[in-house]
Amino acid sequence: MPAILVVGAQWGDEGKGRVIDGLAPQAHVVARYNGGDNAGHTVVAEGHTLRLHLVPSAVLHPHTICLIGGGVVVNPERLVAELDELAALGVDVEPGRIKLAANAHIILPTHRALDGARERARGRGALGTTRRGIGPTYADKAARVGLRAGAMADPEGFAEGVAELTKAHTRLLTKQFGMEPVSVKETAAAYYAYAQRLKDHLVDGSALVAETLAEGHTLLCEGAQGTLLDLDHGTYPFVTSSSAVAGGALTGLGFGPREVARVIGVAKAYTTRVGAGPFPTELADETGDRIRETGQEYGTTTGRPRRCGWLDLPILRYAVQVNGLTDLALTKLDVLTGIHPLRVAVAYERGGRRIERFPIAFGAEDLLAWRPVYEELPGWAEEIGGARRWEDLPPAAQEYVTFVEEAIGVPITLVGVGPDREQTIWRR
Ligand code: GDP
Ligand code: IMO
Ligand code: MG
Repeated sequence: MPAILVVGAQWGDEGKGRVIDGLAPQAHVVARYNGGDNAGHTVVAEGHTLRLHLVPSAVLHPHTICLIGGGVVVNPERLVAELDELAALGVDVEPGRIKLAANAHIILPTHRALDGARERARGRGALGTTRRGIGPTYADKAARVGLRAGAMADPEGFAEGVAELTKAHTRLLTKQFGMEPVSVKETAAAYYAYAQRLKDHLVDGSALVAETLAEGHTLLCEGAQGTLLDLDHGTYPFVTSSSAVAGGALTGLGFGPREVARVIGVAKAYTTRVGAGPFPTELADETGDRIRETGQEYGTTTGRPRRCGWLDLPILRYAVQVNGLTDLALTKLDVLTGIHPLRVAVAYERGGRRIERFPIAFGAEDLLAWRPVYEELPGWAEEIGGARRWEDLPPAAQEYVTFVEEAIGVPITLVGVGPDREQTIWRR
């Protein structure tokens, strides 16, 4: 049976965690396919607020097996801490349940140091990365000098590999960036301990996925980041270093496109972005501040305030296109309560020429030459956090959702009206 993909349709933080948690009852294996602990996925349910960085967001559903897939880059210190935090809440994080694909790559302290050093070197052109070492780790993977999780099966050999790579990085850090050397010995010792702790979680990720599908079970694939942060299809160079789009699930987990039954995009009812880079519908005014406060738009991973703006329909159409979305989950509709009128970007314009698509093909710089074209829609004053059925929404809120649906050409099958698992309207 099928694979269901959940991908971010904007610049991340769309509410993928809550959507995965909502779909988890249908799934047998739930797998993260890209990114690392730059991701922060929130699940609010059963009286808990989980902020997950590596463990899939289905972890509160005890019947699920949670896989950290081969496309992920793993900071073992963070993973061990996350497992401990979850265990303290009584969640089953035993090796039989939480699996780490052997072909996932390992983040070292020096990857994080390099991330920070390169950001500083960029000066005003900094990307605003999370400084979790994501870019340098994927760079080492592509350069074929990286360390893979599978090496932890032999903790001593792994520690030697860690020492080698740390030395190579240290030369770079001290010579090129004038930084203090890191202790190779301490790093190797710490990573030896992580390997001891994590080795029983190692698995052949692609084989687990294949078995799951062959047995007729559902595989739920959890994307991190979002379409516009995708290395190939996002607002380059203001992107992350992995494949956040639907295709990343196939390469990240190792299965074929014929298995995919559904590709769900997740979008907020407005737009946010954390970090630098173009954001055409950004609101640098009171409405933007209001959305930030009502929506609690502060980074899950870094605590940075998120930039806020109007919904951008060309972006959502672009997400439909590059991911092959079958449907969309629209979250945080409740945050728009009380804003009237609401504006939505429906097209882009440049020198009198109007286009319906998102003009990103020629890069971030070129995008800045285009202006969004807005339409106004009526707002609503009613609190909608208690709505559970479509009929519970005020007409203007229904109209907003229907307007988006018609503009992007795929159905909106989930509407979020609050952070809690229960605050969900399922449609169709
Ligand atoms: P992710 O990275 O895509 O999983 O999203 P984050 O967890 O980083 O950010 C989404 C934030 O919005 C979290 O704090 C969620 O608890 C919250 N959230 C998700 N859906 C809704 C919703 O429908 N309404 C409100 N008010 N908050 C929501
Ligand atoms: P989730 O999965 C939002 C952003 C960073 C920065 C850029 C590159 O929670 O949606 P990186 O550290 O990846 O090299 O930073 O990408 N970024 C995210 N923004 N949500 C995320 O993840 C993000 N992960 C990275 O802010 O602009
Ligand atoms: Mg997030």
